[in-house]
Amino acid sequence: MVEICVLYDKVRFEEKALYDKALKMGIKAQIIDAKAITISTDSKKKDFLLGDVILQRSVSHYRGLYLTACLEFLGFSVINKFKVGEICGNKLVTSLVLAKHKIKTPKTTFAFSAESAMEAIGKTGFPLVLKPIVGSWGRGVFPLRDEEVANMIVEMREENDSPLARIYYVQEMVKRPPRDLRCIVVGDRVVAAIYRYSAENEWRTNVARGGKAEPAPITAELEEIALKAAKAVGGGILGVDLMEDSEKGLVVHEVNNTVEFRGAASVSNADIAGAMVEYAISVAKR
Ligand SMILES: Nc1ncnc2c1ncn2[C@@H]1O[C@H](COP(=O)(O)OP(=O)(O)O)[C@@H](O)[C@H]1O
Ligand SMILES: [Mg+2]
Repeated sequence: MVEICVLYDKVRFEEKALYDKALKMGIKAQIIDAKAITISTDSKKKDFLLGDVILQRSVSHYRGLYLTACLEFLGFSVINKFKVGEICGNKLVTSLVLAKHKIKTPKTTFAFSAESAMEAIGKTGFPLVLKPIVGSWGRGVFPLRDEEVANMIVEMREENDSPLARIYYVQEMVKRPPRDLRCIVVGDRVVAAIYRYSAENEWRTNVARGGKAEPAPITAELEEIALKAAKAVGGGILGVDLMEDSEKGLVVHEVNNTVEFRGAASVSNADIAGAMVEYAISVAKR
């Protein structure tokens, strides 16, 4: 019998839902704290009782990513793969992969110094969006409307200790309704799609920023784009986020590696956790 392992660093709605679902389905499952695991170059797979397939659910991007590298080194199947996490955890790399696969995405310019960032900002024109290349929940995603503020933000970023802060991701502001779309992709299936409406006095639509979920129809077009984006980054269990650009139509702005689905689960009839557990079992049996 296949055994699945949910790895967490903080138990949220999602980790609980996955674990509970597996048990309800009569599947052997365990839920383990990623923070307690250590691995060495001498480690062997048999020293770790982590079942046949691991759902990597760490909130911390780097913790999840590098622990996944270690687990793959031992020979475990991890969802998602290290390679997928590496792409999705970095907005710059994701944008390049999407563009390479001809998936419509907002036009984005990358700059590597304060001077060239200001030049890119000038060329893009206001309003525009400046984002950290690693981050989530809308943190540090700034809509910029004038040069004075742009200058100050770049100045602030230059003084930041993190070398990542000095890599600039300058994106056109998409003319969109006050919502975006989140598609939950599991393997080769879109299990659920929701609109996320931004909260009052908030431009970002993240559920973590008070965004409200509403069910969205999974149209043939949405399905095709979401599956194409998921495949482009290497596949697995993913949250493909799109905006409705008034000119370009649907554009993909990011693909989430450790997808949160609390919002989607609250409005969708689909069994999201069940689909993820079934997918994990299918990966273990490969
Ligand atoms: N180019 C853009 N044009 C308009 N709105 C945007 C743009 N980029 C991001 N947003 C808004 O900001 C939110 C957060 O941006 P996102 O790139 O998804 O970063 P995060 O990984 O922090 O969620 C999006 O869900 C969307 O509502
Ligand atoms: Mg997002």
